[in-house]
Amino acid sequence: FPADRIRNFCIIAHIDHGKSTLADRLLEMTGAIAKTDKNKQVLDKLQVERERGITVKAQTASLFYSHEGQQYLLNLIDTPGHVDFNYEVSRSLAACQGVLLIVDANQGIQAQTVANFYLAFEAQLPIIPVINKIDLKNADPDRVEAQIETVFDIPTEECIRISAKLGTNVEKVLQAVVDRIPPPVMSTDSPFKALVFDSNFDHYRGVVANIAVFGGQVRKGDKIVSAHLGKTYEVNELGLLRPDEYPTQRLFAGQVGYIIAGMKDVKEAQIGDTLHLQEQPVEPLPGFKPAKAMVFAGMYPVDQSEYIGLRSAIERLTLNDSSVSVQRDSSLALGAGWRLGFLGLLHMEVFNQRLEQEYNASVIVTAPTVPYKAVLSSAKLIKSCRAVQKNMVYIDDQRVMMKYLFPLNEIVVDFYDLLKSISSGYASFDYENSGYQTADLIKMDILLNGRPVEELTTIVHRQRAYNTGKAMCERLKDSIPRQMFEIAVQAAIGSKVIARETIKAYRKNVLAKCYGGDITRKMKLLKKQAEGKKKMRRIGNIDVPKDVFISVLKRK
Ligand code: GTP
Repeated sequence: FPADRIRNFCIIAHIDHGKSTLADRLLEMTGAIAKTDKNKQVLDKLQVERERGITVKAQTASLFYSHEGQQYLLNLIDTPGHVDFNYEVSRSLAACQGVLLIVDANQGIQAQTVANFYLAFEAQLPIIPVINKIDLKNADPDRVEAQIETVFDIPTEECIRISAKLGTNVEKVLQAVVDRIPPPVMSTDSPFKALVFDSNFDHYRGVVANIAVFGGQVRKGDKIVSAHLGKTYEVNELGLLRPDEYPTQRLFAGQVGYIIAGMKDVKEAQIGDTLHLQEQPVEPLPGFKPAKAMVFAGMYPVDQSEYIGLRSAIERLTLNDSSVSVQRDSSLALGAGWRLGFLGLLHMEVFNQRLEQEYNASVIVTAPTVPYKAVLSSAKLIKSCRAVQKNMVYIDDQRVMMKYLFPLNEIVVDFYDLLKSISSGYASFDYENSGYQTADLIKMDILLNGRPVEELTTIVHRQRAYNTGKAMCERLKDSIPRQMFEIAVQAAIGSKVIARETIKAYRKNVLAKCYGGDITRKMKLLKKQAEGKKKMRRIGNIDVPKDVFISVLKRK
């Protein structure tokens, strides 16, 4: 394929604005997949993606499109929609020469529309605004076009109005990709140079890396090197993604495809890394940074006998996700487990959900924490305010965009849920890391019958300690079932107890209802009680429900 008939593009959008649906239509119209009713988010392959309707791992597809008598190769690079995966979005953008920015015709510009727009804008890519869902009864494309002009300074004439669901005007989108996005400028004569923008692990073939070739070409059997690790590999297989793998003999500059080269771990094919030929070293592409965990949580088997099973499940899942950091950990209360680091909250939830769904693991997840830098000194005297407003912009008469500086700790547990519920679902939210700030923080312990449970220890702002401690004790009282003895729940700072609740003793005699001697019924009730216990974790002699570690931190 001559480079001037190649287009590499991404679709970026706020969650649910229709990125995957549009991708399905584009695949159908270019014959990559057959037209059926069943094409629902073909590129979203994971079960968790289908259930939650979100994209977690980016997928890629090469499309063949005929336009004015010419054949074009359009490489559609899918991106995850969520902020947790911003780095993956920016790496995918690095493989493209333009983007489709989708905005829902009813909801208009949302938080991730803005965040994604800036990623594309900073990468200096042409942006084609696409207004989707014009078939909706309350669609208001005029208003959305005006928003796009106000906020992004893109003339309204450039917007394409479509319904991805019905296929209306989707052809115009393909034409715009060809007309408005430039072909990649690359030479096949220069040394081979490729960007790794995604990777996943296959049990039989090892790591499958998705690459965008920026220069030269690569063939089966070539010896290649990953620039940041400096390791050498032999290429076993390569090809295009249509969207299924389509092996070819070579990949050229301007093309996007996959490569298999005997890498055993996705950490060897890190997103953002550069590949080159062993005999022709090149300057690595700019912008590489190793994934950095921002949210940490402990994970423990509900029963220690499940340790080995959970370990292999975590190992297998992390084989596919180089951004999760894993460290062995153990706690007095919960036994042996791990401390895992994630890019963000959704990333953590998705990981946990996959453990439970794909590996049938039963996991205790402790409350997520964020990294702090501690200065060990007597007092920190600096006054701290927990949220600082940075700016406010009216998008139109119905919507306002506000920027705040927040401590990550304040948004890590349930901020998003609270925001959604107080705004009846209208507000949307996005964040980026702005570095460490000084604050007056103290460590608060939670004690069950006088014994500190380190998984419930939190770092709180000094002025909030009393209220938080009291609320946590109350919630623990509500969520720990009564047991055969009294349980004291206390919050303490150092040796000073600041709050206390008591859970009264109670014996739940499940057999009380069973008069007469029906043994099968008796067995059934005892079994049911035992199953209830499976969701519990024994700390000392106290049975604690496994979800308490997170629910105790949720604000009502
Ligand atoms: P993420 O992958 O999480 O970023 O979501 P997405 O942007 O890929 O959204 P998706 O394609 O999954 O669409 C979200 C919802 O909107 C689905 O229920 C779609 O059926 C619906 N939808 C998409 N396009 C249209 C459209 O043109 N009209 C209508 N009425 N609904 C649409």
